[in-house]
Amino acid sequence: ASEGDANILQNPAWTTSLGQPVAARPYGMPSQYESQLLRRESPGLARVGGASVSFAPLQGLFGIITPSGLHFERHHQGWHDIDPSKHRLMVNGSDDSLLKKAKVYTLDELMRLPSASRIHFIECGANTGLEWGNVAVPTVQYTHGMLSCSEFTGVPLKYLLDDCGVDYKKARYVLAEGADGSSMTRTIPMEMVESGEVMVAYGQNGEMLRPENGYPLRLVVPGVQGVSWVKWLRRIEVGDQPYATKDEAVHYIDLLPNGLHRQYSSVQEAKSVITTPSGGQTLLDHGFYNVSGLAWSGRGKIKQVDVSFDGGINWQTARLEGPIQNKALTRFNINWVWDGKPAILQSRAMDETGYVQPTYGQLRKVRGTKSIYHNNAIQSWKIIESGEVSNVQVL
Ligand code: MTE
Repeated sequence: ASEGDANILQNPAWTTSLGQPVAARPYGMPSQYESQLLRRESPGLARVGGASVSFAPLQGLFGIITPSGLHFERHHQGWHDIDPSKHRLMVNGSDDSLLKKAKVYTLDELMRLPSASRIHFIECGANTGLEWGNVAVPTVQYTHGMLSCSEFTGVPLKYLLDDCGVDYKKARYVLAEGADGSSMTRTIPMEMVESGEVMVAYGQNGEMLRPENGYPLRLVVPGVQGVSWVKWLRRIEVGDQPYATKDEAVHYIDLLPNGLHRQYSSVQEAKSVITTPSGGQTLLDHGFYNVSGLAWSGRGKIKQVDVSFDGGINWQTARLEGPIQNKALTRFNINWVWDGKPAILQSRAMDETGYVQPTYGQLRKVRGTKSIYHNNAIQSWKIIESGEVSNVQVL
């Protein structure tokens, strides 16, 4: 055939030959043609890979679940593949009057206890942290990729505290400690634990946690910045006051314009981002596009997402793909016909408390430009006539 699509007119090899046998790959892998969809490290971000971060490729993901192999990673002292038969979780009190009996659990013991499975997002407090002053990175992978969402399975922490006979009148805080060398310890207010949402998780997306994400045990603290989701969890201590550990007194705090630091801003406020089209991509031609993105809030469910195609002058309400879950990513989609002229695409999330995601102008008025953490400003993607998409900031 001299004309027409050879891919239709000729029989490809795979229609005339035998395929691979079952279990050729006992653990399934993505197609070889998807080999560019990877988590990536931003060169120069940290001098030591073991104290760095790799970003999830949000531009290539669908729906709300992050495949476990593409979940972002943030380690302060590298990751370990811990032998579960040697891992222990200890629950104790800062003083003995706070609970009846300190206990040590093996993984097998924990897995016998009543379990729950829930879908939640995890976002590092430093996500979008490079963009406080101006545009710094080109793609959504680097602007927003310290974000992932999984179905976590585990034991509600409240169950373990009840099992140890914690006195909730006195014990108002929990300290979570990891088994890695980073001395990662975080204070969690007891109200969060009492709500039943905080979990000691061993499962992620239907299988055991991946080593990079805390195998065999991690804390899940829905809505709260990632640093509190202590990986390789080995100890929970109940106490009667916040612990002010190094990772909460010096790091993960907000520098305000007046030079003061704000501590314990742990809940991730409502935020959203368009993932397709996004920075670094090129539109094929003018015409129809499905514009798609993610929205989330640490305070509950996403109520509405509006999208602008003209840099925030006019807004249209996007379709939210249900079921909309508590403290989970929510996928939004909206139809768009590109007329081939320059455009600026933005999304703005509103959560069930009525909180609306701020513009850069609004956020900087309160927070200045020199912070690292908790940047939830509206993201803008500029499209020029050639179809190229780039990262810009609109006040
Ligand atoms: N827990 C331990 N033990 N050590 C760590 O370095 N990093 C924290 C948190 N828990 C960390 C940890 C930070 S800063 C984040 S953002 C999340 O884990 C990242 O989780 P992930 O690597 O599963 O994406």
